[in-house]
Amino acid sequence: MKKILRAAAWSAGGVVVLLVVAGCALYVVTQRRIDHKWSVAGHQPTIPSDSLALVRGQHIATAISKCADCHGADLAGQQFIDTPPVARLWAANLTRGKGGVATQLSDLDWERAIRHGVKPDGSALLFMPATEFQHLSDEDVAALIAYLKSLPPVDREPKPNSIGPIGRALFLKGDLVLLPAEVINHSAAHASPGAMAATPEYGRYLADIGGCKGCHGEGLSGGKIPGTPPDWKPAANITPTGIGHYTEEDFFHALRDGKRPGGTPIDTLMPYRFTKDLTDDEIRALWLYLKTVPPKAFGSR
Ligand code: HEC
Ligand code: HEC
Repeated sequence: MKKILRAAAWSAGGVVVLLVVAGCALYVVTQRRIDHKWSVAGHQPTIPSDSLALVRGQHIATAISKCADCHGADLAGQQFIDTPPVARLWAANLTRGKGGVATQLSDLDWERAIRHGVKPDGSALLFMPATEFQHLSDEDVAALIAYLKSLPPVDREPKPNSIGPIGRALFLKGDLVLLPAEVINHSAAHASPGAMAATPEYGRYLADIGGCKGCHGEGLSGGKIPGTPPDWKPAANITPTGIGHYTEEDFFHALRDGKRPGGTPIDTLMPYRFTKDLTDDEIRALWLYLKTVPPKAFGSR
């Protein structure tokens, strides 16, 4: 009996040692990537000062690219993930107030943060979806920066960020894009989307910068949203296989009222509280674009 107990104690001890070693390795490997300093030239923006550009910038920050979803309605920052085993992340205060980044960022720094996911000191921004915003055109990123610089100052100090063991494991496995700077082509040119009109081309641009692909997948066929807890609803298939039965009017209802054809509610994970403010032309452009994407089975790449 004593022998068996001793053997059990030894193997339990062995498991603990193994876990500690694996935990340290996980921490060291991921921390090296997190601490990597990027040397990104960026693209010097020309910041406009006309009121039309400010309106466009505000529309991008809210309805289109939904900065407000993470940075808060006043864009002055908030704790937007607070699940310590996964991560604790504070989305920065983007105003000129105390604790805000606006007093420290040059125009080029703003561009590097938004389209490249890199801070002025070269470190990668954690989880900030620059993978989507890298597609912003030169005019749109400049309008957005003009708007952010015009925000009224709000005093709000940031809280420290931390990445927990589950977050690190997901990151290592490739299930969580913790460092968008790693996957962005930093020297790519930024094409203009052409006319802001109800065309499939403009719809494609809006789907890129609007995060539809971030949640519904590169091929828009839906599936688990990377990094979300197991019990969260997967994103829907919005290729013609998934929404082929929609009429244009149904699509407006989905994006404005969060309702499917027939009236059943769409989960609030789908950010219709923001897409409701897209203009008619923008929703029509998205609709026309989604009709052109290849049909795919749910969750296929
Ligand atoms: C999914 C959540 C999310 C969305 C959406 C988002 N951000 Fe962020 N953002 C973050 C987080 C988290 C940080 C802090 C990252 C860090 O400290 O490493 C951040 C940091 C920043 C910074 C700080 C740069 C610095 O020097 O510290 C800027 C600028 C910024 N975001 C701009 C934007 C803009 C503009 C948009 C919309 C186009 C946007 N963000 C949308 C999560 C988000
Ligand atoms: C933050 C993640 C997220 C983003 C961003 C997002 N969606 Fe969704 N969307 C979802 C989820 C999750 C569902 C499924 C909700 C459910 O099952 O009730 C959904 C459902 C939908 C539906 C309903 C489909 C059906 O089953 O009938 C449509 C249409 C849709 N999204 C379109 C879009 C478009 C267009 C965009 C970009 C402008 C977009 N979504 C951006 C998460 C997202």
